Amino acid sequence: MNLIMKMLAVPATVLALWAVSAQAATNDDIAKRLEPVGQVCVQGKECKGMEVTASAGGGDAKTPDSVIAKHCNACHGTGLLGAPKVGDAAAWGERAKKEGGLDGLLAKAISGVNAMPPKGTCADCSDADLKGAIQKMSGLK
Ligand code: HEC
Repeated sequence: MNLIMKMLAVPATVLALWAVSAQAATNDDIAKRLEPVGQVCVQGKECKGMEVTASAGGGDAKTPDSVIAKHCNACHGTGLLGAPKVGDAAAWGERAKKEGGLDGLLAKAISGVNAMPPKGTCADCSDADLKGAIQKMSGLK
């Protein structure tokens, strides 16, 4: 008798858990469907999930510092993969000489070179954004 009760209890528990999780999924689905289609994001406020839209539209002003912090510093901050380091004027100067100055470096940054990804992963950076970041990292004028 006891054994039978136990055998029945196991599937009953599984069924109960399944029912609970199924309910949760349904509630989530409903909550998703009830989300507003568009959300107002006031400038100057941090709005979750809006960053991509804002930058894709070119709406947010990029500064050399923000571009470097978001995109370049991952490698150029530490010299990862042989990247010239931020502030290492000698290393940057040598590269500039080889590539024909700042504009030569900009061209390489746009196309990418070896482990340096095209546009340094900042796909929506303008040439001017990239140039500003390179100037700031290298100290080149
Ligand atoms: C995934 C790592 C990585 C990121 C992110 C990255 N770089 Fe680089 N970058 C490199 C590496 C590695 C090199 C050296 C490539 C070589 O000469 O082999 C390099 C070289 C460069 C050079 C010199 C190119 C040349 O011809 O000598 C410039 C300019 C440059 N990066 C700009 C940027 C800018 C601007 C950003 C951010 C928008 C950026 N990088 C982001 C890895 C990175």
